[in-house]
Amino acid sequence: MTRKIRKVVFPVGGMGTRFLPATKAMPKEMLPVVDKPLIQYAVEEAREAGLEHLVFVTGRGKQAIEDHFDHSGELERLLAQKGKDDILISATSMMAEKPGQIAYTRQQEPKGLGHAVWCARNMVGNEPFAVVLADDLIKGPTGCLKQMVDAYEKVGGNLIAAMDVPREHTSRYGILSPGATRDNLVEVRGLVEKPKVEDAPSTQAVIGRYILQPEIFSYLANQETGAGGEIQLTDAMARMIGEVPFHGVLFDGHRYDCGDKFGFLQANIAYALDRPDMQDDVQNYLNDLARQG
Ligand code: UTP
Repeated sequence: MTRKIRKVVFPVGGMGTRFLPATKAMPKEMLPVVDKPLIQYAVEEAREAGLEHLVFVTGRGKQAIEDHFDHSGELERLLAQKGKDDILISATSMMAEKPGQIAYTRQQEPKGLGHAVWCARNMVGNEPFAVVLADDLIKGPTGCLKQMVDAYEKVGGNLIAAMDVPREHTSRYGILSPGATRDNLVEVRGLVEKPKVEDAPSTQAVIGRYILQPEIFSYLANQETGAGGEIQLTDAMARMIGEVPFHGVLFDGHRYDCGDKFGFLQANIAYALDRPDMQDDVQNYLNDLARQG
């Protein structure tokens, strides 16, 4: 029997340096894809997977995220007065059903993803939990996290979202040493963060979705730094291989790296082309641009 996943951690403490100057005073996670901030897509994906308790690990300059998931009395009154009910619903749909389902804690220094996750330890407690990186936006028929929770119910242990990347890109990711693959699950035999291209054990990369057992916190507590001088989640996960079942989920969906300018533009185009209210205009505009060469 696996323990049910109820909690999800959103580490949003990073500096977003690849997206400067946009991220100087605005959190990267509030960048909109069409008309919704990245963090809202992430929260909606977590809710689709049945996760009820949301924990945000924030940092300096991230207050806009808290405001986004709160009431804005003035805005709501104005929209109601003007009879703009559809906009009112879309502007408030992201809020938790019950007060107290969202918790915030602060990572006082951006020391890396592993450190950000460790900052959530008291809020998560002694139960398995999910982690979602909002800048990895995944578009597919079923949310990536839902696919992972379904897999977790079968195999338990630790799970990561995994996808194949070009060999020359392996130095940007956590890369796994794969064991046997069965359906959409690949056994994880080893993990290395940002290896040199020639040292990468495979081309299967870790993408920003995780299901982790609470024992991860004791490995993160050592505060050891790894690649880039940061406290790496990958290194702590690697130490758990062999102690708990460990699988990569070869998810069904397309992943956009929205922490990167080109990935972010691609996501905007893909999501706009999927929107009935604007797809024709966008497609016509793209055709015009292509004709102009
Ligand atoms: P990134 O590797 O994209 O780092 O973090 P970053 O600082 O956000 O962006 P760049 O590379 O400088 O452009 C991956 C995820 O981990 C979170 C980020 O917010 C992002 O969701 N993170 C990273 C933290 O919460 N704290 C950190 O110290 C580092």
